[in-house]
This record gives sequence, structure tokens and C-alpha cells, in this order.
Amino acid sequence: MKAPISVVTGGAGFIGSHLVDLLLAKGHEVRVVDNLSGGDKKNLVSHFSNNSYSFLNQDILEIYISSSRYWRYSSFDRKT
Ligand SMILES: NC(=O)c1ccc[n+]([C@@H]2O[C@H](COP(=O)([O-])OP(=O)(O)OC[C@H]3O[C@@H](n4cnc5c(N)ncnc54)[C@H](O)[C@@H]3O)[C@@H](O)[C@H]2O)c1
Repeated sequence: MKAPISVVTGGAGFIGSHLVDLLLAKGHEVRVVDNLSGGDKKNLVSHFSNNSYSFLNQDILEIYISSSRYWRYSSFDRKT
């Protein structure tokens, strides 16, 4: 069965990073979206080498779905 994909907004923060830990431990693929205004990527350092984890430095308020702009998986940084 395919792994569920979860998007965690604010995933570099206190609560979000623990949610990322939990979801990865449960076998999810996790996409973190965080603008690092308050959080820190060091909270996620243990996942940098995990292929199921990816990070997008992005203000969630600026993301919208339209024909002209959309989220692409390739936008996520897999390494950090
Ligand atoms: N050791 C502890 O017990 C401990 C430590 C830290 C915090 N806390 C508590 O945790 C609570 C705070 O945790 P939290 O996780 O809610 O806050 P947080 O600030 O840790 O996390 C919020 C995350 O959202 C991100 N963010 C904010 N606006 C964004 C936007 N527009 N787009 C994308 N990302 C955005 C921030 O960069 C940050 O990473 C407080 O109650 C605090 O007292 C407890």
C-alpha cells in the first residue's frame, strides 16, 4: 500500500516538529511548509537524510491553488 502523504504547516516549530516526528514514525511521507519566522530547521535535522521527508520554505498565506500558480512536489527541498 502507498504511504499516506501529510503536509505539516509550521513543521519547523515546537508542535509541528513533533508532529513530523510522529507522522514519519508512522510511515507517512511528510512535506513540511514553514517560513522559518519562528521555527528552526534544527528541529528537523534528524530527518534530513530521510527520503520520506521534504521541506519547503514558504509562507503558507502566500500559497494558493490556481491555474497560474500551484504547488509542485519538485518545489520541496529533500536534502534539508
Ligand atoms: N519545551 C517546551 O515545553 C516548549 C518549547 C517551545 C514552545 N513551547 C510552547 O509551544 C507553544 C508554541 O508552539 P507552536 O508550535 O505553536 O509555535 P512555534 O512558533 O514553535 O511554531 C510555529 C511554526 O509556524 C511557522 N509559521 C508561522 N507563520 C507561518 C506562515 N505564515 N507560513 C509558514 N510557516 C509559518 C513558524 O516559523 C514556526 O516554525 C507555546 O505554547 C509555547 O509555550 C513549549
